[in-house]
Amino acid sequence: MLSLLFLTLCLVGGSVAKPPAPAIKKDLVGIVGGQNAAKGKWPWQVSLKMYSYYSSAWVHICGGSLIHPKWVLTAAHCIHHRNTDPSTYRVLAGEIYLYGDQKLLTVSRIIVHPDFVYASRGADVALLQLAEPADCSGNVQPIRLSSLNNEVTQKDECWVTGWGALRYYGWLPPPFRLQEVKVQVVENSVCEQLYQKATWYHHDDRRIIFDDMLCAGSEGRDSCQGDSGGPLVCKNSDSWTLVGVVSWGYGCGWRDLPGIYARVQSYVPWIKQHIQSSS
Ligand code: ARG
Repeated sequence: MLSLLFLTLCLVGGSVAKPPAPAIKKDLVGIVGGQNAAKGKWPWQVSLKMYSYYSSAWVHICGGSLIHPKWVLTAAHCIHHRNTDPSTYRVLAGEIYLYGDQKLLTVSRIIVHPDFVYASRGADVALLQLAEPADCSGNVQPIRLSSLNNEVTQKDECWVTGWGALRYYGWLPPPFRLQEVKVQVVENSVCEQLYQKATWYHHDDRRIIFDDMLCAGSEGRDSCQGDSGGPLVCKNSDSWTLVGVVSWGYGCGWRDLPGIYARVQSYVPWIKQHIQSSS
């Protein structure tokens, strides 16, 4: 039923939200160890933008994933505060270059997960409702959410994409083309040990990697600053599913320190509850 609705909305199409933002040379912000992504390969990838008076343009602040023609899933830490005015954000969909003559989508509502405090405490997910549905085409398509019984393992083929830094403090240079890198999932218990080893401050047996987090990446293959909110997708019998939302990590692409993602599976009921109640 829901998928039928998605399809109908996709056929209805989106609309122009704002005059195109001018190309900018400054500001930011790939992915560590990545390569240029081909147009249309990751059609759910979006860029979340905020207006910069300094650049007089809408600039990229975070990644996100289209999970429905009217909904984007991103990281809660990408949203300034729970009651941020949605009109301070715009969404760019269907593009591999961050800036240019592009139409941006308007955000009508922001829902930050109620348990979110800061990224390393978990629940780093937020939903953005779009004022108009995205115009679904070859380059713009929602991604399927990881199902409740789908356990991802290190054997799965997983990729993370984004416009974030190429290394810690090494911003992606113009023309700001979307980057992709294949990463291996690291089991939570292994990831916990790695992060415990790297943490100098041990407070009793404080857990670092919670059950609603997922680790992926290896030395030289990781997401980084500016990729936050973006998708970690894995191939599941020939189709892609969204398994993670870029959240945090110690450094980027450092040895024995995988990137940490919000585990989408843990939030499927919360996500569906919001999407269904407003559709
Ligand atoms: N917090 C970062 C952001 O806001 C993402 C960091 C991801 N780090 C990593 N090592 N994978 O863009």
